[in-house]
Order: sequence, then C-alpha cells, then structure tokens
Amino acid sequence: MVQYLSGTENKPMPPATPAVEGGAKNDHVQALSFDELILGTESDIPSQFLWPDEEKPSLDAPELVIPTIDMGVLWSGGDPLALSKAAEAVNEACKKHGFFLVVNHGVDSELMDKAQEYMDLFFGLQLSEKQKAQRKLGESYGYASSFVGRFTSKLPWKETLSFQYRPDAPNIVEHYLVNRMGEDFRDFGRLYQEFSEAMNKLALELMELIGISLGLDQAYYKDFFTENDSILRLNNYPPCQKPDLTLGTGPHSDPTSLTILLQDQVGGLQVFADEKWHSVAPVPGAFVVNIGDTFMALSNGIYKSCLHRAVVNNRTVRKSIAFFLSPKLEKPVMPAAGLVNAANPRRYPDFTWAGLLEFTQKHYRSDMQTLDAFSKWVEEQGSNKEIIT
Ligand code: OGA
Ligand code: NI
Repeated sequence: MVQYLSGTENKPMPPATPAVEGGAKNDHVQALSFDELILGTESDIPSQFLWPDEEKPSLDAPELVIPTIDMGVLWSGGDPLALSKAAEAVNEACKKHGFFLVVNHGVDSELMDKAQEYMDLFFGLQLSEKQKAQRKLGESYGYASSFVGRFTSKLPWKETLSFQYRPDAPNIVEHYLVNRMGEDFRDFGRLYQEFSEAMNKLALELMELIGISLGLDQAYYKDFFTENDSILRLNNYPPCQKPDLTLGTGPHSDPTSLTILLQDQVGGLQVFADEKWHSVAPVPGAFVVNIGDTFMALSNGIYKSCLHRAVVNNRTVRKSIAFFLSPKLEKPVMPAAGLVNAANPRRYPDFTWAGLLEFTQKHYRSDMQTLDAFSKWVEEQGSNKEIIT
C-alpha cells in the first residue's frame, strides 16, 4: 500500500517511516509556546514557520472576481428571474473556483459582531487556560496552536478553537465549552451555539440554491445535509514580524462540503485561480462561501474545491470564523444520477465523510490533490465495498 505522509510532503515513502509525524520536534521551538512567540519581539521567527520560496505569500495579490449572491431570491414570493440569475452566477463561480459572497442572508448582524468579539475572551486567556480545551493529536475539536499538530515544518501562524456541531444534538457547542472550560464559559458557549445554528440554517439554504444551480431538485442537497456532522472553527491570526516569510493558513482545499467564512475587515484570504494567487477582500456584513472536496465529489467534479490560504500581517490580529458543513459520518457520498453521463463519467469512488476525515487527519496534508489521492487510497483499500447503503 502506498503511504502518503513523508516528512511534510505527500509523497510515497519507505514503509519504515511512520505515517503520522510525531515526537521529533526542535527543542528550542518546543520550549517556546505559540503565546510566547507571538508576544515576543523577536524578529527572527523559528524556521518551522518559514515557507519555501515558491510558497511564500504574495501580499499584493490581485482581487478575485466573485459574484455577490442575494439570498433573498430564495424567499417565497420572490422573483423567479432573479432566482435563476443567482443560480447561474453560482454555477459559473463554482465551475471556475468555487468561491462566492452572500449578502441579505438573514443572519443577525449583532450575532455576527458578537461572534467576532467573543473570540478575544478565549484567545486572550493564558495558555494554561486555553489548554483546558486542548485538541489532541488526531482529534478534530478543541484548541490548537501550531505546535500540537502532526507537522514540524511550514507551520501556520495561527491558533484555532473548533467545535463539533450537529443539528440533532441539542446544545452540543454550549455543552462542550462548559465541560472543557467551566461554567464561566456558559454565555460564550451559548453564543457559538446560536451562531452555529444560524450557519447551519444558511448552509441548508445555500444547498437549495446550489441544487437549483446544478439543475437538480431544490430540495436535493438540502435533504442530503439536513442531518449533518459539521465543524465551527474560530481562527485567530496574531500579527507577525515577518509576514512575507510565513502563512496564517497554508495552501489547502477544504475537505468538507461547504464552507461559510466570516472574515473581519483586516483581509488575508487568498485563492489560487487561473494559475495565480488572488485576494478575497473583506465585505462588511457578507459571508464568503466556498465548495469543499466532499461537495466536489457530490457534484461529480463539476463544482471545484479550490486551493486557498490566509496571509498574515505585521500590524494587527486577524480573526475569521469558518463553518464547515459535512454529511453524517457514515452517509455514502456519491453524485446525483443526473450529474453522471457519457461526457462526464464517475470521477470518484463512493466514500464516506468518516473516510475522508480520517485520511486528511492521519495520512495526508490537504492540498490541491487531496480528492485524487483519497480516491486512490479508497480504491487501494477496497473500502468502498464496505459502504452499506
Ligand atoms: C479555513 C480557511 C481562511 C481564513 O479555515 O479553512 O481557509 O481566511 N480559512 O481564515
Ligand atoms: Ni479553508
């Protein structure tokens, strides 16, 4: 069997090398926590954060042209022409790079502001406090800074706090935060519970529009994702003395299905389209939406899950909040029959989100080839045979 993780590169490697990076970390860096690093005035950033020349960020990337979708087109009594125009704009953007903006989305602006403000209540804590929610190796939820991950090079200049969200698990976000952080985090937990619920509602509405945009029934993807196992992630990118040498989030495609991103007004999101990096400028009150690998498979490759990254700056902290919609763990992922034909035959094997999650958590560092590499892995393992429909 081919093993995918070798060092930090996704290349085949000799079987003796462990598939997951672990122990061997640089002593100097390990002795220094991310908190100490970002608070320090050291202008020499540790080598683990330096990116090779060909991957170093371009801080003045041209702006990506993306449509702004008014979600009001979905409301009853709406204008059918406006709806079909919006669906067409979504179709065009998703075939190209998978990114678009949404406005008039119905998410309360006060909730959006609070979701960004409350982040400071957590990320401003002492490291020992944040570590009460420490994310362990191989886990998807909790607090993580670069040093607890499985990689030792090309580290991201950020810290994150992630929660599981499932619509069928009442108050799951609130309970998680109170369990890990204590009763003082009840209001904080409630706020992100409420925010996750708003994101889930918007994600399902987006799935209606996306269904229409692919010529399917309006309810097709909405029904598919009504039960889901999603993630809410708070990204905190501290200022960096050498923003031209490092990245807040390295180039990756989202393995999940649909991402709804709330970025603050600082800017830093970049997308690789037409062979170069473009920036996605912040628009007050709007969300950035993008297609993930799982949806690329669900659309039989018609909609693209595109490489993107986040750059940092030396002036100010940048914050973003991402909701990653994903199917139930064991639900079979396969394209709608209407999207498979002689001109566009099946691109990917049947799989489950559980399988892709395991692959990206344990065997592979997400990049532009994730879905192809995963498909090969599934085929090698014959695990598609085990899916019970
Ligand atoms: C992500 C991501 C971009 C950003 O969290 O997957 O791509 O701007 N974030 O924070
Ligand atoms: Ni992403």
